[in-house]
Amino acid sequence: MSTQRSTNIFDIYLKGVCVLERLYIRGQRRLNGEVSISGAKNAVVAIIPAAIMAEGVSVIENLPRIADVKSYVNTLTGIGAQCSFTDEQTMRIDATGINDYHADSDDVRKMRASYYLMGALLARFKKAVVALPGGCNFGSRPIDLHLSGLKALGARIKEDHTNGIISLEADRLIGTSIFLDTASVGATINIMLAATLAEGTTIIENAAKEPHIVDTANFLNMMGAKVKGAGTDVIRITGVEKLHSAQYMIIPDQIEAGTYMIAAAVCGGDVTVRNLIPKHMDSLTVKLKDAGCKIIEGDDYIRVVSDGNLKAINVKTMAYPGFPTDLQPQMAVLQCKANGTSTLIENVWENRFQYVNELRKLGCDITVDGRKAVILGVPVLIGTDVVATDLRAGAAMVIAGLCAMGETRIGNVRFIDRGYERIEYKLKNLGADIERVNEDAK
Ligand code: UD1
Repeated sequence: MSTQRSTNIFDIYLKGVCVLERLYIRGQRRLNGEVSISGAKNAVVAIIPAAIMAEGVSVIENLPRIADVKSYVNTLTGIGAQCSFTDEQTMRIDATGINDYHADSDDVRKMRASYYLMGALLARFKKAVVALPGGCNFGSRPIDLHLSGLKALGARIKEDHTNGIISLEADRLIGTSIFLDTASVGATINIMLAATLAEGTTIIENAAKEPHIVDTANFLNMMGAKVKGAGTDVIRITGVEKLHSAQYMIIPDQIEAGTYMIAAAVCGGDVTVRNLIPKHMDSLTVKLKDAGCKIIEGDDYIRVVSDGNLKAINVKTMAYPGFPTDLQPQMAVLQCKANGTSTLIENVWENRFQYVNELRKLGCDITVDGRKAVILGVPVLIGTDVVATDLRAGAAMVIAGLCAMGETRIGNVRFIDRGYERIEYKLKNLGADIERVNEDAK
């Protein structure tokens, strides 16, 4: 199948990436029914580059149709891979024909997670030329731990900040012990990718433990890698000479699931969020219970029942299994609607409160001091024009619009499309009054 078809699959749902679109929401409707969670963005953006480390056809199932995947498809096609689709959620990546270790296109620059191409291309070709990563801007997002880890494995690295490019080259990759100063998700995965094809054993200490690290390790092991300990803070990788292609189903998206759970709590109603891993949601379910929601858990679903009358709660973001920073802006909306004063402390990113000004336009009462926000609940939010300042901030604007009085119009939808598959379809199914409007066509 040709890449033409692959492009079409995304274009059906992702026109907003190219044109000026806004989400129009008429709020104050209860949410009821079921919503099914897509494959995890942060897993798929690591597993796609992992798939190019072996020749042959890998098959990725439960693929989310999000803009970051589209950017990866364009990137891989550009370096000689063939990407095709057997159905809307299954992508075949034939990595046999990859003959280029330069990944510096605009698509690479759009994504933060394109940094995984450094580890993957270095492992396969011992060379990589990769554009500096883009993605959401919430303060300084260094990659020093990725680079020092790859260097410890034997890479020589040149950073060209004028052209925004990093070049890596190694004669041999040799396993070693690496202690991460900060338990970085990206550095853990990048080092893991390169170490699978290094000589000898690599030990990553103070490794991050997020679910997508385990998912990436599981995929690598299906490709013939020897990765042990993913999900704990010590990962041991015994290098192998060669990997082979594999078939793999991506885990459900913890953050997408959490976003719908918070939306149900805030709007009130009875929503069953299906195809999730309840264990991944523990840090959120405990907070929703504290806020007064009823939570019913099954093997692969969580039902959130809320009357919309919420208690104030305090939240601190932490690395997994703590409360995820990627649900912090959505949680702020819940706190805005709760009765009383809540606090929200951001421990992961230095500047992740940029969306607060947008929430203030809707009538939210939020005071930010450094990494701490104090939020005074208000009886009602009033719809107006706001913008998504980044991906999860965009999700927060959607939740705010869903509970606000009147109409909320959200700009910069392209940020939301980076991580949420068909958000307006899924919300409409739950009873929301939401539509995507092409402003160019108006
Ligand atoms: C990943 C997620 C992102 C999430 C974040 C934290 C992906 C594609 N993105 O981002 O959605 O918000 O985890 O859960 O999975 N740090 C350094 N040096 C480095 C790398 C990171 O100091 O080389 C610091 C960062 O500034 C930050 C902390 O480590 O304070 C965590 O960052 P990290 O876990 O690396 O986040 P990402 O992998 O970029």
